[in-house]
Parts: sequence; structure tokens; C-alpha cells
Amino acid sequence: MEEGLDIRLRGIFERIDKKLEAECWRVGERIPYTTRNGLYETDMREENLAWWTNGFWAGMLWQMYHATGNEEYCRTARYSEEAFDKALEEFEGLHHDVGFQFLHTAVADYRLTGSKRSRIRGLHGAALLAGRFNGNGNYIRAWNKDLPGWLIVDCLMNIPLLYWAAEETGDPRFAYVADQHAHTAIRLLVREDGSCNHIAVCDPATGELLELPGGQGYGAGSSWSRGQAWALYGFALAYRHTGKKEYLDTAKKVAHYFIANVAATGYVSLCDFRAPKEPVYWDTTAAACGACGLLEISEAVGELEKALYYDSAVKILIALEEKHCDWDVHKDSIVQDGTEAYGRENGIHIPIIYGDYFFVEGILRLLGKSFMIW
Ligand code: GLY
Repeated sequence: MEEGLDIRLRGIFERIDKKLEAECWRVGERIPYTTRNGLYETDMREENLAWWTNGFWAGMLWQMYHATGNEEYCRTARYSEEAFDKALEEFEGLHHDVGFQFLHTAVADYRLTGSKRSRIRGLHGAALLAGRFNGNGNYIRAWNKDLPGWLIVDCLMNIPLLYWAAEETGDPRFAYVADQHAHTAIRLLVREDGSCNHIAVCDPATGELLELPGGQGYGAGSSWSRGQAWALYGFALAYRHTGKKEYLDTAKKVAHYFIANVAATGYVSLCDFRAPKEPVYWDTTAAACGACGLLEISEAVGELEKALYYDSAVKILIALEEKHCDWDVHKDSIVQDGTEAYGRENGIHIPIIYGDYFFVEGILRLLGKSFMIW
């Protein structure tokens, strides 16, 4: 790495450390999602304990614990893991995103400390995820309620929990479910040009494809950028766990499409790459997640190809730092201008906890200080 970049990244790392340490003291046992008046006022344990993003705060703190050895990060991360025991017990509201929830809490704890209790919590989460498998259509069903035929691109980021469980227990059924979902996603969600659908709706009794709705993007046939990032990183991780070349090839195909689109807007992603020019909705969370996926691909390819993915990831992370970060230690959240979904009232251009998670993972990856949470 060139010296100027190294110095710059170290500076960002110091600012992350100062800001997150201050946040730990302010947040205490609560689980944050977004800010109000510049602060994490809401406690997701009370608001919605099973909410899909509730692991990211802990995941970010485990990354920082690994990078710094500061016990405060470990102590604060464990509050989220312990809070999830109630979610497991109640079962109500848990869905396909148990991957995000348990990889970032219990599995991260187990990986870093060897905690036996954490291992069991992680396996419990994996069993719930595997239990969502629909063998008629070979997919993991999304969400709850009356949607048994829905599968979504986001779930590619949850299946690493299944690969972990297969490696941990020696039981290949977990990896089988993950692989089946990944294959179905290649068939139904990834388009020829490397863009992706968010959702596919199948007949849950036969597996027949019925519909490809727009989901959180602009509309059917559009290109929701966070969905593209989930696919990019998710397939790269599936390759890491299985060594199957089709996953790496798919990750690269999505990555080429993603790079071409973010390069056109200063290396920060719009919420949807195929939305009308106005209004302009950014989604910094997609950019941060995409950058981590690009770094994952850069580690999987040969020397000749590496630069494309690595350099694009650096450009994205530096663009986020230059234009979208808030370093005031008296305020919560680092990365601003995340967007929950295209056109969702009150959810546009807000800080969202997973934006910070992926930004921190990306910077730590570049500095060789991250650990593999996925
Ligand atoms: N997994 C839901 C989202 O990306 O908003």
C-alpha cells in the first residue's frame, strides 16, 4: 500500500476508535439503529428485539475489540448477544436475517473468545435458518406472515451462518441448504448484465416462478443498490466457504456492474441504479457493503485481477469518508445518508447502523486489522 494511503487510513482508524469508544459509554446496554437529534435515543431491545439489524452494533464492536484489545468493546458487544436470548425464547418475529443477527453476536464472540454458550446460541440461530428451507423451490423463505413463496437477494449474506454451522458440526445439511439457496438465487435473481432482482415469488408447493417484484428499489426491473451489494458480497463469501468457482464468477459479474455504476457517481451509490435522475437518493450503506465485497473478491482472485476490485473498494471508502462521515465524538453514528428503501418516508438520508458496520469493516480490512465475521 502506498504510504499516503496508509497514513490516511490510520488517521481514519483513530477517529473510528475515539468515536466508537464514546458511543459505547453513551449507549450502554441498549441496541442502536439510527439517530434522533444526533443521538442513538431509541433502544431496539424495547422497540423490536427481533429487528434484522440488531446484530450490527455488536459486530462492529467485536471488530474493534479484535483490532484494539479494548475490553470495553467486548463488554458492550455482549449486551446485544445476551438480549437475543429473549428473542430465541419467544421465537416471535425471527426471520431469514438470523444470519446477520447471530454471526455478529454469538458467533463473533465464539470465534474470538471460544465461549461455549455463544457457540450454542450460534447453532440455535443456524437451525432456525435451515428450518426455513423450502425443498419444492430450493430456497430459504424470506420474512414471516403470509409470504411462503418469497426469496430475496439479501439472504445471501445470511447463509454464511449455515456454512459456519456445517464447518462447526461436521453436518453437511447446513451447507446443502446454503448451496441450494445460492443456486436458486443465481437462477432467479441475478440477471445477465450482472444486476439483480431483489425478490422472487415462487409457488411454495411447486417452486414455479410467479413474479419478480421491485421490492426496496424503484420498481420491477430496476436495480436496488443495496441488493446488488448483498449479492456481490454474498456470492464472494459463498466462494470463501465452498471454493465453488461459479460463486466467484457470479460475484465478479455483479461486481463489474456495481463498479461501473458507482464510478459514474463519484464512488458513492445511488439507492437505485435505474431510478429516474430526480429525486437523488443516495445509499451510503450499499457503497460500504459493496466495498467490503470488493475487498473479499480481491483476496480470492490472482494478482493480475486484484487491482480492479481493491482500488475500487479504496475509492468507495475514501469517498464515503470525504463526503458522508460525521466525526463529532459528542454525536452518534459515523456514516450519514443511508436509505432504507427507495421513497420510504423518514428512511431517506439517515445514518443506519449497518452503514457504520461495513465502513468500519472495510477500513479495518485495508489495514489488516479485521477478522472474518461472516
Ligand atoms: N435486508 C433488508 C435491507 O437491506 O434493507
